[in-house]
Amino acid sequence: MNPTAEYDTFASIYEIWTATAPAAARNLPFYVEVCRETPGLVVELGVGDGRIAVEVAKVGKSITGVDASAEMLHRCRARAQAAGVLDRLTLIHADFRDFVLPQPAELITIPYHTIGHLVTMDDKRAGLRHIYSQLAPGGRLIFDHFVFDPDAAARHSGVILRAEYTDSETGQDVLLWTTTRYDLEAQTMRIIAWTDEIDGVGVVVRRQYHRLNFSWLEPEQARALLEEAGFEIEALYGDFDRSPFCDDSPEQIWVARRPR
Ligand SMILES: C[S@@+](CC[C@H](N)C(=O)[O-])C[C@H]1O[C@@H](n2cnc3c(N)ncnc32)[C@H](O)[C@@H]1O
Repeated sequence: MNPTAEYDTFASIYEIWTATAPAAARNLPFYVEVCRETPGLVVELGVGDGRIAVEVAKVGKSITGVDASAEMLHRCRARAQAAGVLDRLTLIHADFRDFVLPQPAELITIPYHTIGHLVTMDDKRAGLRHIYSQLAPGGRLIFDHFVFDPDAAARHSGVILRAEYTDSETGQDVLLWTTTRYDLEAQTMRIIAWTDEIDGVGVVVRRQYHRLNFSWLEPEQARALLEEAGFEIEALYGDFDRSPFCDDSPEQIWVARRPR
């Protein structure tokens, strides 16, 4: 399945997915700040439902969002409209490997582990080369990536009840379940999530599956890919408080610059 179709199906659970993901809460202030402090064109790749971009617009900074999913972009537009900041948002419906900006960017971000949706090394190479081409000389690319943890992977291989909630659109009680299948050698994973809609006597009236293909990078692989694409590495943080990366860091947060 391509990323467009995957996220068109995932969109209906994306808000509850991020609300129940600790990394999402922690990455938000970091990205709002790096966008706010950067003059010139700022771009978020994989803008999704605007979870971050709308907060950036709310602090007064205009932002361009790129996404391959029409359904996620629709939700992003609605969120910006509701927040009264639609005029600070430009949305581009495109893939990371072929988006075209109206002018070179000063900052391109790829928040929330999203580079992992470029599943193969060749996808990642093509993505990074293209991102480089859309940056101004001296412009920065900032992305985060989780650090693969075999113990966490073993836990996520089981079935987990991720959330129990009432759907705000349908008023229906919902159970959100997940499991993940890993291919350790290929460094890929398939996230399978399903929602059970439950009626007043506990009967499942509807089940829907939502599936995503994902991958991960070891820090030395990320460094090699960035350097191969022509980037200079400015910093590698180990968490969103900008602490330096170390062996037990939960995240790898790369700040890379297109040379002047
Ligand atoms: C994990 S979500 C991140 C959304 C948002 N940045 C956030 O932090 O909440 C990933 C987003 O990237 C988009 N995406 C995945 N692969 C893509 C690709 N190759 N080109 C463009 N968008 C892509 C998906 O449609 C989805 O909206």
